[in-house]
Amino acid sequence: MSEPILTTVRLGKQFGALRAVFGVSLEFEPGVVHAIIGPNGAGKTTLINLLSGNLPPSDGSIHYRGQDITGLSPDRISQLGVGRSFQKTNIFPTFTCFENCWLAAQSRRPSSMRFFRPARRLVDVEARALNALETCGLGERRDTVAAEMSYGEQRQLEIGMMLATEPDLLLLDEPLAGMGSEEATQVIGLLRRLAEEHTLILIEHDMDAVFAIADLITVMVNGEVLKTGSVEQIRNSAEVQQAYLGVEEDEA
Ligand SMILES: Nc1ncnc2c1ncn2[C@@H]1O[C@H](COP(=O)(O)OP(=O)(O)OP(=O)(O)O)[C@@H](O)[C@H]1O
Ligand SMILES: [Mg+2]
Repeated sequence: MSEPILTTVRLGKQFGALRAVFGVSLEFEPGVVHAIIGPNGAGKTTLINLLSGNLPPSDGSIHYRGQDITGLSPDRISQLGVGRSFQKTNIFPTFTCFENCWLAAQSRRPSSMRFFRPARRLVDVEARALNALETCGLGERRDTVAAEMSYGEQRQLEIGMMLATEPDLLLLDEPLAGMGSEEATQVIGLLRRLAEEHTLILIEHDMDAVFAIADLITVMVNGEVLKTGSVEQIRNSAEVQQAYLGVEEDEA
């Protein structure tokens, strides 16, 4: 077994009296696509926000490649190689695809370097932005203003912006949300390609996509981990069907 790339130890987040995330101890293996599923309000986005540094935890700790990263800022965590996408699109709508990726690419550098602008660094940033655009499938859209693209393409651009920071570990919060089936198929293909060279932590409500992409699945309910297992184990678990899939049927 390889060393986990990311570990959480009894991680918790409280909003007033609400325990949005509670006692979450998980290990994420390098190279693995680890999906996190659960009903609305289960604490999935909150967990991602803790991992990315967008929220400080109330309890517990987070370790990335053996380093305690608990409480570090989002910038610092991004610079260590953890990229994230947001459940709601986070692009700059009036900028072109290239400009959006360029901004993301340059954010990877420590802020103390921002005032030095050696030509080589700018070339690096440009190259990373273009590479990210190609990888996310928007190479031909480099000069298109983001707001003029379809919703699906905007979500693709968001993945491109994450790639421009050259992360090793990708935190993806519902990358397929709101997409038509053609767009979703395209993004599923992109995620599969990314999985060849990255570790993925994927929150997704689309179960067909999760079952198609994930190696491991963790089910969260009410802020807690109910179960972690393979696709088969989760698919066949009566406990999971009752706690999660059953809930979805009731809501439908
Ligand atoms: N900033 C906040 N302040 C107060 N409560 C919050 C905050 N963020 C989330 N919550 C609450 O924490 C709980 C978990 O929310 P979270 O967004 O993590 O769920 P989720 O599993 O991502 O749900 P969904 O599938 O709907 O995206 C919910 O009850 C939510 O209302
Ligand atoms: Mg969410």
